[in-house]
This record gives sequence, C-alpha cells and structure tokens, in this order.
Amino acid sequence: MEVRIIHYLCTKIIYKKMFAQKISDTLYYVGVNDRKNELFERMISLPHGVTYNSYLLVDEKVTLFDSVEICYAEESIDKIRRVLGERKVDYMILHHIEPDHSSGIRQYLAVYPDMQLVCTKKAAEMLQGYYGITANIKTVDEGEELSLGSHKLKFIFAPMVHWPEVMMSYEQTEKILFSADGFGCFHTLDGAVVDKQLNIEPYIAEMERYYVNIVGKYGLPVQNVFKKLADYSIDTICSLHGPVWQEHKDRVMGVYDRLSKYEGAEGVVIVYGSMYSHTEAMAEAIACGAHEITKNVIVHDASKSDVSQIITDIFRYKGFVVGSPTYNGAIYPRVQEVVERIEHRGLKNRVFAAFGSFTWAGQAVKLLNEFGQRMKYDVVDPIEVKHAMQGDDDYNRLYSLGREVALKCKN
Ligand code: FEO
Repeated sequence: MEVRIIHYLCTKIIYKKMFAQKISDTLYYVGVNDRKNELFERMISLPHGVTYNSYLLVDEKVTLFDSVEICYAEESIDKIRRVLGERKVDYMILHHIEPDHSSGIRQYLAVYPDMQLVCTKKAAEMLQGYYGITANIKTVDEGEELSLGSHKLKFIFAPMVHWPEVMMSYEQTEKILFSADGFGCFHTLDGAVVDKQLNIEPYIAEMERYYVNIVGKYGLPVQNVFKKLADYSIDTICSLHGPVWQEHKDRVMGVYDRLSKYEGAEGVVIVYGSMYSHTEAMAEAIACGAHEITKNVIVHDASKSDVSQIITDIFRYKGFVVGSPTYNGAIYPRVQEVVERIEHRGLKNRVFAAFGSFTWAGQAVKLLNEFGQRMKYDVVDPIEVKHAMQGDDDYNRLYSLGREVALKCKN
C-alpha cells in the first residue's frame, strides 16, 4: 500500500541535474520547487506552486537544515553533492516533522548514514512514528547551543507554530534565523532565492494565504514566538517555504504579526452563496452601501471563489458580511464551509452581518447570525427576505446594512 501511494505522488518526477544557489560564503540553498502538486495538504490550492526549502551550511561541521518532500529528495541531494563532493553531512537540523519537510529523510540517510539528526524530543517521537527512525538522534532543549566551527546555533522552541514539535534555530555569526514554517509563503522561487532579487509582491499575497490557511488557528503561539525573537538581532530569515528574507524581513514579520493578532484593515468582505441569484442581488446592494464609505470592498461567490482566498480576505479586513439562502433547512453548504473554516481558526474582532433569502421557511440567516454572536463579533442586525428583494425598500435596507458595517470598520 505504501509503495502505491508513493508511486502515485511521484509518477511525474524525473531525474534532472540541479545546482545549489549560494546565499553567503558558507550558506547554500538546496531546496526545491514543486510546480506539480495542485493541493497543499490535499486541500489548499497552489496556483503558483510551493517550495520545500533546505539549506546547507559548510563550516568545520557540515550542517543541513531540514529535508524536503519525498518526491524531491533526490533533487535536493544532487544539489548537496555538487557543493560537498566527497565530504559528508555531520548534522541535519529538523525544525519541523510535517511530511513536506521530512518524508524524504530516508533518502538522505541512505547517502549520509552517519549524520546526526538534531531535533526536539517531540520531533524524535514523530520520526519514530512516521519513519521508524530511532538511531543517531540528538534531542535538544530550548536555548541549547550547538557549535559548528565559526558558526554557532541556538535553538528556540516554537510549539504550535503550527505543530507541537516545531523549533527554530538562530545562527549567531551571520545572524540567521532558521524559522521553520514561520514567515513562509506559497509560490515557487523562479530563478532567485533572496528577496532583493525578486518582485516580492506575489510572495506577500501568497504569504497571507499561507498564514491564514496553515497557521491561522495559532495566533497566540505565533505571538509567543515574537516575544522570544525580540531578544535576537536578525539579518536573514530562512523559512521552509518561499524566499530568503533580508531586505524585506521587517515587512514579512509585520505580516505575521498583524495576522496573528487578528487585526483587520478597514474594509468589508461580502461572501454569499446563491443558487438562483436572489441572495446574490442582496450582496450587490450591500456592496454598493459599503462602497459609499470605503474603497476596500470584496465580494466572493462561495460557489466560485477559492475558499482559501475567501478566508484570507476575511482575515485581511475588519468587516465580514455573509449571506445564504436556506438550503435543506440549513446554511447553503458552500457558505457553511466558509464559516466553519473561520470558526475553526478562531478569527476575532470583526464587524459582522448576516443576510439571505428563503422560499418557504427561513433558517440560514438565523444560523449565520448565531455564528456571529458565538464568535463575539460586533453584530449588525441581519436581513432576510422571502423569495427575493421586492423593491426599493428591501434594496435600501441592504444598502444601509453595507454602509453601517463599513462605517463601524472605519471607527
Ligand atoms: Fe511546511 Fe507545516 O509544513
């Protein structure tokens, strides 16, 4: 069974010669681009792909920072061999055991059987559970240091960002933070690795979508890590996904700080489901009212927009308006999925309103309104219509709802 699964995932991978990219005199990028996988964690869309990052530090000790996803392990190992020749790897630091970073580990061990695996105790349990690996593991404690020659690492635990075994490491000579998934983003690296060589705007957009969908539930643990990082002077951030951050590291840390505090910018996101356009027409009226107050209005049809982008936009803005017809005595399923994902992530501090329509018995708007109250949002009175908007009065009520939500977001 295991062989069949690996075969399925790897059928499109062919062997190709790959080359490491230099980040500094001693540090190399030996990670990989994944342009084939369409769904991260088998559910989050990857329109611009993703990277699995790995870094090689060459000093008196040779240290590899994390492995990559199994289908790409040979590609990464080929890069490492080109840098090292006959030299061996002494340490592999494992910051995070989620399989996008660990499933290739047996392939690395086949080439470098003597390298020591350095990780937290919780990570060691996962190595045994996932891969049966128990030998040559060095577990470290919070604040412990490891000398590599002229470079020295200090380990910083980051539990629940976004798994419990996660740690980061800080290299004191070059002031590099190896940040695990932290400060990561979706999007491949198209020819360059370091931020100053890239147009970073697409990466920032994909960073927000990455944060919200992968880390979004864990705002408090992210804030706890920020408190620890305040003690460190950081010149370079080497994350497990996306660019190496130097020039724009403060902006990137700002993105994670803002999102993990659940702060929303001024603006309104309107999400609706609509089978026959009656609820959609209500959404249009609300959008017009909101636009009287703010330029930042986004309308999503939950049946068409990518749900990972919908919830990213809801994290981005302060106003959240959601509409649904009553469907089988409940919320329309595509809308239900959106509110469930938001509730699951515990998004706080929103101005909220519900709206919708029904044909013979209303229920969806009541349930959506209860969702807003359960989340302790600032809830504006909901609006529900029978069949469809009937005229100017209905239009004006919905227009006013949009205006009111937008005004509250401004204050
Ligand atoms: Fe990139 Fe949580 O794995």
